[in-house]
Amino acid sequence: MNTKRAVYIHIPFCKKICPYCDFCKVFYDADLVNQYLDVLNQEILSNSIKEPCRSIYIGGGTPSCLSNTLLEKLFQIVRQIPTDGQTEYTIECNILDLEEDKIHIFKKYGINRVSVGVESSILKLQKKLNRIVPRKVLEEKIKLLKKNGIQNINVDLMYAIENETLEDLKEDIYFFLKLDTTHISTYSLMIEPHTKFYIQNQKEIDEEENAKMYELICKTLKENGYQHYEVSNFAKPSFQSIHNLTYWDNEEYYGFGVGAHFYLDGVRGYHKRNIYAYINGCEKLEKDKITKEDEMDYFLLLGLRKSKGISKKKFQEQYGLSLQDVYDFSSFIKKGMIIENDDYFALADAYFYVMNEVLVELLCTKKL
Ligand SMILES: C[S@@+](CC[C@H](N)C(=O)[O-])C[C@H]1O[C@@H](n2cnc3c(N)ncnc32)[C@H](O)[C@@H]1O
Ligand code: SF4
Repeated sequence: MNTKRAVYIHIPFCKKICPYCDFCKVFYDADLVNQYLDVLNQEILSNSIKEPCRSIYIGGGTPSCLSNTLLEKLFQIVRQIPTDGQTEYTIECNILDLEEDKIHIFKKYGINRVSVGVESSILKLQKKLNRIVPRKVLEEKIKLLKKNGIQNINVDLMYAIENETLEDLKEDIYFFLKLDTTHISTYSLMIEPHTKFYIQNQKEIDEEENAKMYELICKTLKENGYQHYEVSNFAKPSFQSIHNLTYWDNEEYYGFGVGAHFYLDGVRGYHKRNIYAYINGCEKLEKDKITKEDEMDYFLLLGLRKSKGISKKKFQEQYGLSLQDVYDFSSFIKKGMIIENDDYFALADAYFYVMNEVLVELLCTKKL
C-alpha cells in the first residue's frame, strides 16, 4: 500500500468568472495574490512535511492566470514540499493562458501534468458557457504543451448543456479524441446555487437525455483506447490520475489555501471559503474526527466510484473486519449491480449512472 500523502493547493483567482461555476474563486488582483501567497507559504511551512508526497495538485480557480512573477513565487513556495521521482505534479490551467514562456516556468519547477478546462469545441455551446476559443487555438495550445515536454495532459469535457444534441456531443468527443491527451475528465453541467445560470433560472437537461449522453461518452472513449477507471474519468493505460486516486482510495492528503479540504491523521476538515478571513489569519478550520464506522463508509462510497472497485484485502487490513461482515452485498450481486471477484467488489458498468442510488441502498445494509 502506498502510504505517502497527496497535497492539494487552492489558488482561487480567475480573470473571468464563468456563469456556471460555484468553485471557490475571486477576481484576479495582483496585490491580493501576493498577500495570499505569503499566507499560503506560512501555512505550508507550519505543516513541516517531511515525507515525499505522492502528488501535488495546484487547483483553482485558475492558477495559470497568475503573472509569471507571481507564478514563480507560487512555485518557490511549493518547492518546499518534499517530492521524489514518482511525484505527480499537476497545475490547472485555462487554455488561453498557455503561452510558451509560462510553460517554460512550469517545466523549470517540475510540473509534469497539466489539466486544462477545454469544456467544448462547439461554438454555440462555447457561447452559452461564455468561453469562446476557436478549435484551431485549442489544438495549437495542446500541441504547444506537448512540444515543450508536457505529455501528461488532462482535458475537461463538459456536456448536458442546454440545446446540446447527441450529435453535438459526438462531434465534441471526436474533437477531444483528436487532441490525443492522456486523460479526459467529463462533467455533466450542474446548475449550482450562487451562479449566474441559477439566478437566470436555467435548468439542467432532461434525465433521460443526460443518461444517453453519458452512455455515448463511455462507449466512444472506451472504443478509442481510454480506460473508464472512475465514474467520470477516462485515462490512457498507466495515466490514471495519482492525485484523484488518493481521494477515491480513501488515502490521506493535505489541503492548503482557502476552501481547501484535507484528511490527516484520521481527521477530515476544510478551510472556509472566505479569502479575507484566510489572509487575515482569523479563520477557524472546520474539523471532524472520523469514527472507524464512518471511515468504513468513506472506503465504500469513494472506492466504488472506481471501475476496479474496493479491495477486500485492504479493508480487512485497515479495519480488522471483512467487507461482507459489515455490508450485505448479496442481493446486489444477485441483481447484477455489484460484481465480485477474488479480491474486489465493483459496481457493474451499467449501474455507474445511478451510482448514488445504489450506494445509498448499500449503506442501508450496514450490519454494525
Ligand atoms: C477549476 S475548473 C478548471 C480550470 C479553469 N478554472 C478553467 O475553468 O478552465 C474545473 C472544472 O470544473 C468543471 N465545472 C465547473 N463548474 C461546473 C458545473 N456547474 N457543472 C459541471 N462542471 C463544472 C469544468 O469542467 C471545469 O473545467
Ligand atoms: S470554471 Fe474555472 S475559470 Fe471559470 S470561474 Fe470557475 S474556476 Fe474560474
